[in-house]
Amino acid sequence: ASRKKLIIFDAEEDLAASLAKHAAALSAKFAAERGAFTVVLSGGSLVKALRKLAEPPYLEAVDWSKWHVFWVDERVVPKDHADSNYKLASDEFLSKVPIPASQVYAINDALSAEGAAEDYEACLKQLVKNGVIEMSPVTEFPKFDLMLLGMGPDGHVASLFPGHPAVNENQKWVTFVKDSPKPPPERMTFTFPVINSSAYIALVVTGAGKAGAVHKALSEGQSTSDLLPVEMVSLRDGELTWFTDKPAVSILSSI
Ligand code: 6PG
Repeated sequence: ASRKKLIIFDAEEDLAASLAKHAAALSAKFAAERGAFTVVLSGGSLVKALRKLAEPPYLEAVDWSKWHVFWVDERVVPKDHADSNYKLASDEFLSKVPIPASQVYAINDALSAEGAAEDYEACLKQLVKNGVIEMSPVTEFPKFDLMLLGMGPDGHVASLFPGHPAVNENQKWVTFVKDSPKPPPERMTFTFPVINSSAYIALVVTGAGKAGAVHKALSEGQSTSDLLPVEMVSLRDGELTWFTDKPAVSILSSI
């Protein structure tokens, strides 16, 4: 079954507190149920929104040894480059929590975009074999425990941009983009079949710049043509929670 929730926060502090509580509860649930917790990060403001997980009480309460950390998308740049999502997450979050380094799966930054995507998919397949990542019996794609996504003002999620052929990839787990409309141009990205097989997605969308895409995605009765990537986030068997603020839902709530 698939469930959808929308939470509108008054203050960024409250959003960050709620996101930390949500992630910590899921960490405890999956660590108990399967001895591992697979978490998928993105770039952007989402990473800062995770900061309360690295503070008390979560810093001590979470069993970080169960965490396995992935990226839903990554810019194909060196790991220490200012544009790297890995660097952003390391600086803002991962360096502050005791996740074993061997359980943090960065892309191979020595490869091309195609190579990095293929290599990442091979890494995921190995982790399925080892039992770290589950497979969805429904979709036959990998099922991550918690995916943390942002959304661009154009409605993109991961590196799946409106009108780009990568949006329609339905075989591969991980694909590449060489002409991202938002720099840097070269990316690797999870595909929709993988995103939509997740157990939980937290979609963190704040600010007035997102109001148009939020309105299109969440208002009732719109046409199904020309779906924005964010409208293609549709869990087969999981829970999608929108973590938003008032500016992001301003058009939605004015109607
Ligand atoms: C990128 C960005 C992008 C980002 C969204 C939301 O791939 O170039 O990282 O995908 O996650 O645009 O970003 P904000 O939450 O910072 O607005």
